[in-house]
Amino acid sequence: MNDKEFEIFVEANVGLPGQGPGDNELTKRALLSMQDIPHQPDILDVGCGSGMQTLELARNLDCEITAVDIFQQFLDDLTIRAEKENLSHKIKTLKKSMFELDFEPESFDIIWAEGSIYIYGFEKGLKDWSKFLKKGGYFAITECSWLTDQISSEPQKYWNENYPTMKTVNENLEIIKNQGFETINHFTLPVSAWENYYNPLKLNLSKIAEKYGKEADKVIEEQYFEMGLYNKYSNEYGYEFYIIRKLL
Ligand SMILES: C[S@@+](CC[C@H](N)C(=O)[O-])C[C@H]1O[C@@H](n2cnc3c(N)ncnc32)[C@H](O)[C@@H]1O
Repeated sequence: MNDKEFEIFVEANVGLPGQGPGDNELTKRALLSMQDIPHQPDILDVGCGSGMQTLELARNLDCEITAVDIFQQFLDDLTIRAEKENLSHKIKTLKKSMFELDFEPESFDIIWAEGSIYIYGFEKGLKDWSKFLKKGGYFAITECSWLTDQISSEPQKYWNENYPTMKTVNENLEIIKNQGFETINHFTLPVSAWENYYNPLKLNLSKIAEKYGKEADKVIEEQYFEMGLYNKYSNEYGYEFYIIRKLL
């Protein structure tokens, strides 16, 4: 994608409930896996987007969430949504790159990263961000992962080009263990969580097509290719939710 196409891709994601596969029930399921979280946890939400998961956390917890994203448009959406639900007092937005996080050590009880740690790297993210987590704190991460070792050539080729370091669920569990963390729970997001993302995205792509014409062709084509691929191979790859504990 060139710069203009990337700008169009970001615009196609503005106004969506979330910017990746997900679902409030799944966010809550991950949250409920966590034992002994403090009464008023401090949460860092990395790559929060327009905050589908941020809002769900705020609905369910008396907490303070630092919601970080690099795009102000998404943070503005989150601010408006939080205001509408009277949740603003629990959410602080921060426009910052995940590559430049500089919080005090052990500032957070939970680090949440739905669909975003891949940008930084799964293994490196766990390693570098764990210093911000209190002992006994949790990571809640969704990460696109292979669900099988028997991968068809079509998804293999696509993901080799787009996310060459994508791992199987078992490989990620091994990485978590080797870094000295404990996996508390993990589960695969159902197809419906992808539909939650793809269906509103399709509507936005139509608007983008009207607005940009030919300039948007490549972005739209790529998005539809990705959607078609997932339809065909949802048994071979998917988003895995990993709930991970930093040891005491
Ligand atoms: C797949 S989306 C997931 C968004 C949200 N967590 C969700 O699940 O709906 C990835 C998010 O990471 C953000 N992002 C991309 N690069 C980033 C960076 N360098 N630092 C912080 N956020 C970034 C994007 O703007 C986007 O909101």
